[in-house]
Amino acid sequence: MKKIGIIGYGCVGQGLVRYFAQQPHLPYTIAGIAVKRVGIPRPETSIPITTNPEVLLEDPEIDLIVEAIDDATAALAYAEAALRNGKDVITANKKMVATSLRQLLALQTTTGRRVWFEAAVGGSIPIITLLDGYYKDEPLMRIRGILNGTSNYVLTKIFNEKLDYNRALRQAQQLGFAESDPTADVSGKDAWYKSKLLAYQAFGVDIALDNIFHYGIEYLTHDDIQYARSKNKRIKLVPIVLPTQQGIASWVVPHFIDENDPFYAIDNEYNSIEIDGQFLGKQHLTGKGAGALPTAGALFGDLQRATRSGTLPEYGTPGIADPASIAVEVYIRDRHVLSNDVLAFDHVREGYLDDHYHYLIGHIGLDRLIALKPWLEKRRCTVVATGHYIQKDVQPQRAHARTLGAAALPH
Ligand code: HSE
Repeated sequence: MKKIGIIGYGCVGQGLVRYFAQQPHLPYTIAGIAVKRVGIPRPETSIPITTNPEVLLEDPEIDLIVEAIDDATAALAYAEAALRNGKDVITANKKMVATSLRQLLALQTTTGRRVWFEAAVGGSIPIITLLDGYYKDEPLMRIRGILNGTSNYVLTKIFNEKLDYNRALRQAQQLGFAESDPTADVSGKDAWYKSKLLAYQAFGVDIALDNIFHYGIEYLTHDDIQYARSKNKRIKLVPIVLPTQQGIASWVVPHFIDENDPFYAIDNEYNSIEIDGQFLGKQHLTGKGAGALPTAGALFGDLQRATRSGTLPEYGTPGIADPASIAVEVYIRDRHVLSNDVLAFDHVREGYLDDHYHYLIGHIGLDRLIALKPWLEKRRCTVVATGHYIQKDVQPQRAHARTLGAAALPH
């Protein structure tokens, strides 16, 4: 019988305990739960509760630590202590794994223990397990997804029920889908971490987060929604991981999705992942992407894998693409006049201007989007991708644009 320690007894920790309670035949026991504070209303449990995580981290009888806390810095310290003490770690904390990937990989090598993070990407969808097994030898041509349940819930309520943004976000929080700070969901940050983890698990690369352009849904206006509706489209926050001739590229941006796209019908907190394989063709995996029980189910999947032997992805084979080598077609909307002298689209295909609503649609380098991000956010611009993108050789003039930092941006 394997003994497990749980650190954190919030939404996910409680889901895990409920999952255990309903499956008493499983060959694991929970030896203890570490919480930050006692005296907070929580479901009754006969499992010993401690406020000192060291008790679990240093117990030689505990084989595995399930880390279910929000704070990525504290989570990293617990994960490192657990690995050093010879225990595997199972986590749903995408920020912790994505921001400390190199560190954790090094520690895995020195300790021979492993961090399992299926629950950190795609909620209940076993994408990490599949990339680690079934898809391992398949030449993957692209991965695309809906990976943030909260923003998908909000967009569904806006598009299907005409609910307003703030009410929809409050509902997502009440239903336990959102992060404790929901700006991580709506700003695209949560999907940003997940994208980096997908790129790592699929291709063994560690793309610097700064090189993954991410943009959220928080600046969408009625005009943007109307524009999408007028074209019979919905908007979904979509991360893309793309192998190119120059290496792996990734970006996370709201996309216009038309009704022929399988993502069109992915509603509420559901996530969906499209794997495009050279031999397998396109496959779509859909399931609940947020919530206590789906996340607990994914943690359980890792528990089963951790107690069998796993393999580590080979590291760094295909390299990482220069963001300047990809141009994505985007709609950028501002309340003021947008000038292409500022944006530096490679090519503008469409534009519109009235008193309060101006948009341009065209191809723009990912490097330029990364440099423009603070400026776009400051002006509360909307950015939505059309789904078209091109891979290009990095020409000297693009290299020049790439060197434009925030200081070179207009105010
Ligand atoms: N806040 C996250 C989401 C939880 O909404 O997808 C699952 O990672």
